[in-house]
Amino acid sequence: MTENTRAGLEGWLRYADELGLGPYYRDRAASKSFPSAPAAAPTISVAATASAASAQFSAAAPRRSPQSSAPEAAPAKLTPLIQAPSGPSLFEERIENDSLERIRADIGDCTRCKLHKARTNIVFGVGNPKAELVFIGEGPGHDEDIQGEPFVGRAGKLLTQMIEAMGLKRSDVYICNVVKCRPPENRLPEKDEISTCSPFLSRQLAVIRPKVICCLGACSAQTLLETNQGISRFRGEWFDYRGSKLIATYHPAYLLRNPPAKSEVWKDLQKVMSVLGLQPKPRR
Ligand code: URA
Repeated sequence: MTENTRAGLEGWLRYADELGLGPYYRDRAASKSFPSAPAAAPTISVAATASAASAQFSAAAPRRSPQSSAPEAAPAKLTPLIQAPSGPSLFEERIENDSLERIRADIGDCTRCKLHKARTNIVFGVGNPKAELVFIGEGPGHDEDIQGEPFVGRAGKLLTQMIEAMGLKRSDVYICNVVKCRPPENRLPEKDEISTCSPFLSRQLAVIRPKVICCLGACSAQTLLETNQGISRFRGEWFDYRGSKLIATYHPAYLLRNPPAKSEVWKDLQKVMSVLGLQPKPRR
């Protein structure tokens, strides 16, 4: 290898590291099933339309605008921060005539990963199967494991408030998680658990085909965007995820520990509202 080639390669590897892609380049054998050349998917950032940065999610409920009268927000910035995978699927080919029922049936009484050992219920997902907006968390907690429904505990109540502050009901949106079984002691899902379970998430999204995907927390954002970057590097930015607009924001559980971050999340939700044509109601 010539000096020039070596210097060039080192430059690319440093660049990949800065983008959080280092592990991909170093462990290519381990990531065989990932697309080798994701098409460019530039980041777009949509300008927030409403101020109310102080909203604490319990504000008077905004109402839906008549038939999305809000102007489609223009891409304000193009930043090649992360390239979201654009192929049919990271994990499997698209399944013809797929449906949420079929995906649930395929999951069955799953024992594919170790999370099955301690779970009470598989937490598949709830909400509108034709939702324009899908929220994705990381994995069920204790309450979700018992009830078999995502986001029903303390963090879930806050998510419900967030949804209602956007002028929506829980039943308008779809809510699910990256992994469908509770990680013990509420630990983060592990890599093997995510790679085993996330094909089902990918199928859910392919069936619902939402206009907007809102990733709650780093786990779901990093899984869908295939990045190791910290969420604060790209929170609030828009990405393309196979035809859906994807935005990541902080997890409601984080907001319970760090309430001042609610104003940041509210800004992100306002961007979602802008894309979906939801009008914030003036506060009384
Ligand atoms: N946290 C999550 O990420 N998902 C849930 O369903 C509940 C809490």
